[in-house]
This record gives sequence, C-alpha cells and structure tokens, in this order.
Amino acid sequence: MLSSSSALPVHLYRCLSCGREGLAQSPGREQGRPDRVYCPRCGQVYPLLASGAVDFIGHLSHLPLSLAQAIAHSPGFAWGYDRLWRPWALSLLTGESFGPDREGKLLMEWIGTADPVLDLGTAGGYWSRLLLRADPQRTVIGLDNAAGVLGEAAQQAQPHWHHYHLVRAQAEQMPLVSGAFGAVISGASLNELPLDPSLREIARILKPGGVFVSMHSQKMQGWGQTLQQWLGATGLRFFSESELQEHLHQVGLRLERYLSFGWVAFVRAVRS
Ligand SMILES: C[S@@+](CC[C@H](N)C(=O)[O-])C[C@H]1O[C@@H](n2cnc3c(N)ncnc32)[C@H](O)[C@@H]1O
Repeated sequence: MLSSSSALPVHLYRCLSCGREGLAQSPGREQGRPDRVYCPRCGQVYPLLASGAVDFIGHLSHLPLSLAQAIAHSPGFAWGYDRLWRPWALSLLTGESFGPDREGKLLMEWIGTADPVLDLGTAGGYWSRLLLRADPQRTVIGLDNAAGVLGEAAQQAQPHWHHYHLVRAQAEQMPLVSGAFGAVISGASLNELPLDPSLREIARILKPGGVFVSMHSQKMQGWGQTLQQWLGATGLRFFSESELQEHLHQVGLRLERYLSFGWVAFVRAVRS
C-alpha cells in the first residue's frame, strides 16, 4: 500500500484554477494523514481519493476520452494489464528476450540520478516500481487520468517507498510546477496522449538538462502499417523517428537517443 505517513510533495503541485505553484495540505481526521490539498491563493480544493492519489480532475464535469484511453477506465483493466500483459509485452512485441530486468536497466541508465521523476500515464505503476525497487529513496510521482489504475498502483506500492506519490490529472494540463523535474518517463503511453499538448507540458515541468524517456509503438511499414491505420480509429497515434524528433524540437526537447526494436522504440530526449 501507498505509504500514508509521508507528507505530500505539495511544493511540486500547481493550482489548475489560478496557476499558483506550490500548494498546501490539510490534516484529516486520522492524525497525520492529509485528506486534501488546497491552493493557499484561490482556495481551490483537490481531494484525496481512497488510494491516496490527489484528484486534480474531480471538478471536471466531462473528461473527453478516445476509445483507447477509455479502456484504462474500465474495471479490472489495471489488475489484468500489469499481471497478464505487461511483463511479457516487450518480448512479444520485439521478438527478443526483453523482460522487466532488461527494461529496468535501460530505464535506470537513461535517467541516471534524476530526481524527482514523473511517471506519465503510469497506469498500475509498472515503471515506477522498476525504479523504486532499485532506488526506494527517489521521489516518484505517478500521474494518470484514470482513478482505477491509480488504485492498483497504490495497492502494489511498498510501505517503505516514502517518496512515492500519485496524482489523477490530465497529461495535457499537469498540476505540477515548472522547471522542477529531473526526468519524465512514459511507458507505453505516448501513443494515446494528445501529443503536442503533452510534450509542451513535459518540457515545461523539466529542469534545464532534464530528460524525457519514452517507450512506445513506432510507425511501421507493411502489414504493421495497415494494422496501425485500423488502430488509429481508436485514437492511437504512431510516429516515426523523424516525426517525433520534429514534435520534440518544437517544444524545446532535443532527441538524443533512439533505439528501435521492431514495433517498439525507446527514446531519450533532453530539455535544452
Ligand atoms: C497503456 S497504459 C501505460 C501503462 C504503463 N505506463 C506501462 O508502462 O505499462 C496508458 C495509460 O495512459 C493513461 N492516459 C491516457 N491518456 C491520458 C491523459 N490524457 N492524461 C493522463 N493519463 C492518460 C491511461 O489512463 C493509461 O493508464
């Protein structure tokens, strides 16, 4: 379970109503455990969900979702995705042995000692756990717009991960302060996020020299291209190395590494 004794990193949170950077937390009835986060300037309140995630979306009456995005909001998605699909996904998609150890090693090499880290589109927290198992002291915030998957991430957290936190928010409007994050990581999410608005937000919250690491499905040729055209109807978008490089460049992110494994690409970009 997500640690309930640790203070929330409210200095990293930003008010979505008035834009103030740095929020405050109120203690709840249970001693020491905050029950909400609020903005000291405009008073906007952001409640905590039962999972411990801070909910920055609850006040929206309508959350626009593509079909691909909506799947993560269905009951049981995170449980099945994390246990039945994710540990084998990269080996199946790349056609080579690509288990969690190899994936975690690459991720650790590419982000180095960056701190704090945002896990964007975290779902059940798969990449966060790869990081925190290796480095439990690192501050990691998992962000997703689906409440159910954050419940799963909280369930799978270790109580001694005192600097692991969850927020329910939109990638294209992050409740996070500017220029504060050492790394943003995004495992299997970039294809379903609104690309340019999300990249703009990633660039905004990164420190100068901060890194963005993504693993996603790249644009394919042949039968893969046909399949991807069909998948496009669900809202998924696929991009080649040069297309992604152009989108990254437009927001001030410099593509530095691009590893291609068949269907899958690992990308490292640096904020200039
Ligand atoms: C395929 S899952 C990725 C899970 C995980 N990161 C991994 O490595 O396997 C994509 C996640 O992105 C989230 N997502 C999609 N669009 C989003 C948006 N606009 N804002 C925040 N999260 C979003 C979905 O809810 C879903 O949990």
